[in-house]
Amino acid sequence: MKTLSISIEHAMDFLGKGSVEQLQGDLVKHQQSLAAKTGRGNSFLGWVDLPSGIRQDLIARILEDASRMKEMARIFVVVGIGGSYLGSRAVIEALTDPFHSLDTSGKAPLVVYAGHHIGEDYHASLLSILDHYDYGLAVISKSGTTTEPAIAFRLLKEHLERKYGRENARKRIIAITDRKKGALKKLSDEEGYSAYEVPDDIGGRYSVLTPVGLLPIAVAGLDIRGLLAGAQHMERIAAASARIEENPAALYAAARHALYRHGKAIEILVSYLPSLAYLAEWWKQLYGESEGKEHRGLFPASVNFTSDLHSMGQYIQDGVRHLFETMILVKQTNRQLTIPRIEADLDGLNYIAGKKLEEVNSKAALGTLMAHVEGQVPVLTLEVERLDEFNLGQLLYFFEYACALSGYLLGVNPFDQPGVEAYKNKMFALLGKEGYGH
Ligand code: PA5
Repeated sequence: MKTLSISIEHAMDFLGKGSVEQLQGDLVKHQQSLAAKTGRGNSFLGWVDLPSGIRQDLIARILEDASRMKEMARIFVVVGIGGSYLGSRAVIEALTDPFHSLDTSGKAPLVVYAGHHIGEDYHASLLSILDHYDYGLAVISKSGTTTEPAIAFRLLKEHLERKYGRENARKRIIAITDRKKGALKKLSDEEGYSAYEVPDDIGGRYSVLTPVGLLPIAVAGLDIRGLLAGAQHMERIAAASARIEENPAALYAAARHALYRHGKAIEILVSYLPSLAYLAEWWKQLYGESEGKEHRGLFPASVNFTSDLHSMGQYIQDGVRHLFETMILVKQTNRQLTIPRIEADLDGLNYIAGKKLEEVNSKAALGTLMAHVEGQVPVLTLEVERLDEFNLGQLLYFFEYACALSGYLLGVNPFDQPGVEAYKNKMFALLGKEGYGH
């Protein structure tokens, strides 16, 4: 299996000589403190050795629950917000057929999401659809007190109980929450749901390889052992060396930090496959919540090319020069399509007839890279072999590890999110929740 690789070649012209290499000493120090669990936020480092340390009996239980759900449900609803749904959604959307919902063979339930916002039409529509299909759900909240998923779960629980009766509804609910505290833990214990713990030492945005991510991914019919194997592979590389020549996560962390110091305030994650759009959403949460604090941190943004070359492409090429790109390039597609030759050539496309779509897409990627570098946008490139569970597992762990190193290079605690409370306090006061004055 091939290790993903990162190149900073197209960013070097924008950086002072040695500006990446000079971070090497700090990277060694930060890698050591991650291993010894001595750095800032050290009570949230359970994710570091999670891939290698995951228990086989936990995997077996997840697979059992997943096959039970596959048998009883056409639709599986993941109720959660932020780190409680973005990881599973990233993997499921990357690896599942985009037209899966039209597939009537019923190989695996269609995974849909709720409680990741408070949109009334969306949730009403979901409940209407669920009138017509058998379904099950996972309610996921580490704290067990988050408002958005709690609202959605209240609606869905009532719907399920009306549809199947209270006793049978219980069998269709899986709760993933804290070991001992929170309203969801209490409810789950009382109702006797099949339940999983989110480990105390793993925060939401680092939880994709716990049951938070693994259970929905398994229900979607994907290979969670393959995903973990990819993550284990990257864990070994990250643990073995902090040298930027040997550890792609260290190189990525150093390059993006050097670019930040050179005045690049925005990092745009670029992909050329629509199936990676949610990987970018997961990545934005991971980096945004980990780094954006104490008035510091790169602003993480994302685009999906070539679609967004017809929208954001203009700004990236020509707007304020405060950004750089990290391009994810996938070398091989899982399916092939050849552009047909047409005698009349009325659309003028015969010059590319006989080429695979991927050949055109990769030229679009190269052309864009050249144009953006010419337009003074540094570009980091991240290459993965293909989209499968192993490579997704590598990518997830790579980004997690690089994020932790990046936070330490920046001098912040990458494992807390104090800023998230501000809107909640205002909202609770406006809603008249007890203990929150106006
Ligand atoms: O990364 C985080 O900790 C957050 O984004 C959480 O995942 C998010 O706020 C949801 O929290 P909870 O799982 O407690 O409902």
